[in-house]
Amino acid sequence: MVKLAPSILSADFSRLLEHVKEVEDAGVEYLHVDVMDGHFVPNISFGAPVLMSLKGKTNLFVDVHLMIENPDQYVERFVKAGADLINVHVEACPHIHRTLQYIKSFGVKAAVALNPGTPLSSIEEVLPDVDMVLIMSVNPGFGGQRYIESMTDKIKRLKAMIDEKGFKIDIQVDGGINLDNVKAVVDAGATIIVAGSAIFNTDSIKETVLAFRDAVK
Ligand code: DX5
Ligand code: ZN
Repeated sequence: MVKLAPSILSADFSRLLEHVKEVEDAGVEYLHVDVMDGHFVPNISFGAPVLMSLKGKTNLFVDVHLMIENPDQYVERFVKAGADLINVHVEACPHIHRTLQYIKSFGVKAAVALNPGTPLSSIEEVLPDVDMVLIMSVNPGFGGQRYIESMTDKIKRLKAMIDEKGFKIDIQVDGGINLDNVKAVVDAGATIIVAGSAIFNTDSIKETVLAFRDAVK
């Protein structure tokens, strides 16, 4: 079954817990936490203290997407703040194999993310070491951008690569996903769908989540 991972980047920070509860009540599986440092991406979002404020208040699986330089330095803080999975960008990790082992040493899941312009070959060697690969379908930094169409083929090629080796690895896709394009993304091989603006910037989060489920049935 396809899992939904709403990105709290598009939530109303003045009532963050309420918004988290709303997506949880609507039946999503993951909470996607977008961390930006103003260096790796041209925007700053929030850090571990914000995640810590939600600790113990949600049963959602907490998926932390680190769009930051030197992620190793911050892994422990995000684990302490409640992360169930830590996702680092291959472009920010010269020693990606070591970083993935380091993340797993805390007993959480490890994932690797690729920017739209980064080839799949950059992560081929670490496929045995990850629980999930994230294909960015926008250039990271901002919510509400347009899905880059050529990423659909990249998802298909990643799925083929994973299947060929017989691995069981989730494929997460993040950026510009909405009710009109989610089916194509899932048909290409995505198993976890991130959606920020499409879920939080709506009148009814519950109805939107149901519509997402219908769209991929
Ligand atoms: C992009 C972030 C995404 C993004 C998703 O830098 O990693 O998670 O905010 O938001 P939408 O769904 O609005 O593109
Ligand atoms: Zn993200």
